Amino acid sequence: EKQGFKHFMLKEIYEQPGVVRSCLENYIDSHWTAADHRHSPIRLNLSADLYADLQQIQIVACGTSWHAALVGKYLLEQLAELPTSVQYASEFRYAPSPLTPNTLTIGVTQSGETADTLAALAMEKQRRSGHASEFQARLLGITNRPESSLGDLVPHIIDTHAGIEIGVAATKTFVAQLMAFYCLAIDLAQQRQVIAPAQLEQLLVGLQQLPAQIEAVLESQERYIEQLAHDFAETQDFIFLGRGINFPIALEGALKLKEISYIHAEGYPAGEMKHGPIALLDAKVPVVAIAMPGTVFEKVLSNAQEAKARDARLIGVTPMDEHEAAETFDTVIPVPHVDELLSPIVTVIPLQLLAYHIAARRGLDVDQPRNLAKSVTVE
Ligand code: M6R
Repeated sequence: EKQGFKHFMLKEIYEQPGVVRSCLENYIDSHWTAADHRHSPIRLNLSADLYADLQQIQIVACGTSWHAALVGKYLLEQLAELPTSVQYASEFRYAPSPLTPNTLTIGVTQSGETADTLAALAMEKQRRSGHASEFQARLLGITNRPESSLGDLVPHIIDTHAGIEIGVAATKTFVAQLMAFYCLAIDLAQQRQVIAPAQLEQLLVGLQQLPAQIEAVLESQERYIEQLAHDFAETQDFIFLGRGINFPIALEGALKLKEISYIHAEGYPAGEMKHGPIALLDAKVPVVAIAMPGTVFEKVLSNAQEAKARDARLIGVTPMDEHEAAETFDTVIPVPHVDELLSPIVTVIPLQLLAYHIAARRGLDVDQPRNLAKSVTVE
């Protein structure tokens, strides 16, 4: 069943190009060009009442799904111009935001069985029950299991079609959730007419290139990251830095590492370092910085230098050219140059591999880490 891979997690990491491809095939019209700007290239088959008069979006989720939701917020705000809040389901259920009629609530859960996420959505459904029917309809689930409890609870579903995931650490379902958010944000942006057709066309071209780009990272970097993992088998603390759309990827890199390797790791928005966490840094704490060209590129590089000045070993995930990167970072994990908005899909891959190989190097049970279950069905 592992098809020659040592663990399900590694097999699932390698399935990601196929997962992205199937999302593109299921949901995106590959022939769409800017000349077709009157209709959306996205086929999510969501009913019109979900989108009508929308003014804001709130998203509830846990763990890795919460990280996907943070990327979703970036896309929904920057592409579709819809104010979006992201909340931990376990917090939201005891302190919900005030009810507003033009809000779409989205629950993200790959398993469709996470107790807190289901409870938050059930509460939302209950709160809306006495209101107009279009308001009651504004509940959407993003899941890998449409036939789950989530599917019974909410009227609309985006199926992420990633295939069953066995490793407790979510990998391919995360990438599939990101793809669902690209589709949703692009669809909303097109319907609200807040995206230029040329930008939309460029994004679609970029999306179509992602499977080959993920393959390139897997092919060129896996061996290298496996060797790199030797250096970190005894490390006790790690910091992951990112900004903008890659801040949630820093969180995800840290979560992957802690849950399977049991190494303490923190993800931070790089600009927050100087407000406290920088005090943690010394030669024993490696720092992984995600440095992708775009809005915050220079800022991330200067934040990374601050870490280096504290003797931290600096690892860059970046498409910078070899020489420039070597001047900035102690270690470089090269990734392809992609549109900033699409970059989380390529930056998360090396971080999954890094967590995997460090845990495997430590001889741990990667697929069944201690104290964790694949779906958390209790509060
Ligand atoms: O099934 P869900 O997406 O609702 O699961 C949420 C979290 O329990 C899950 O993402 C957890 O954080 C994973 N073990 C992360 O790898």
